Amino acid sequence: MIGVFDSGIGGLTVVRALRKKLPKARILYVGDVARMPYGNKSAATVVEYSREITRYLVRRGCKLIVIACNTASALAADALREEFSVPILDVITPAVREARRAAKKGTIAVLATRGTVGSGAYQKDLPPGSTALACPLFVPLVEEGYVGTKEGRAIVKRTLRPLANKKISTVILGCTHYPLLRREISAMFPSAKLVDSFAVAEDAAALVKLDPGLGNGGKPGLEVVVTDRTEHFERLASKIIGSKVKLKVIDLESLSGIRH
Ligand code: DGL
Repeated sequence: MIGVFDSGIGGLTVVRALRKKLPKARILYVGDVARMPYGNKSAATVVEYSREITRYLVRRGCKLIVIACNTASALAADALREEFSVPILDVITPAVREARRAAKKGTIAVLATRGTVGSGAYQKDLPPGSTALACPLFVPLVEEGYVGTKEGRAIVKRTLRPLANKKISTVILGCTHYPLLRREISAMFPSAKLVDSFAVAEDAAALVKLDPGLGNGGKPGLEVVVTDRTEHFERLASKIIGSKVKLKVIDLESLSGIRH
């Protein structure tokens, strides 16, 4: 079984990519809706939350973990790899790989949360001269339904203004929600290539090919567990996956193993 987690529902975009590559796998997804956003929290807090979720996924029998959250990938991947023996994939490594491949000349720009930008996790593996910009309004913009609206476009334009005079050739969408703003972001960089994190699905598929046991465990399919459930999130989850998704709630004590 493959365990996937994110601070919320946005990581289901990664699940969608995984299911295309691995239709026979069983996937257990945890969305930490009760404690999101992670993007504005300290590194220590994001590491602690990510540890709790990974312990839960491993307790439930997951043999491969995909961190489908850029902020948790940036701040917690190293700590998780130290603590757990199962393979742990993050979404930053494949996005950097894709961007380096795409960017022959011109500047690479990373758009991400404050936490991800502040960690330097992207910048350390990108060519010198690359730039990173925190876009803290993009997540609420997506979650509150401003995609495709005049106001949404105005916020994207205003946020990206610091990059206006740089010769950007490649833009990394370094946050789960930003692929949903692809059209608005692309309008600001008409000749740039936009890179997302979905190549992590190829990495997961390559590991499962080497060791098919990683994807097994019960019936093929998707189980979505959240730390808080609202109808709004259930609708958003179904929209991302493209079919009805039922969210199961787990309280934080059960998640962290305090209560069994
Ligand atoms: N999932 C987060 C990320 O990809 C965005 C939402 C949040 O800040 O929690 O960085």
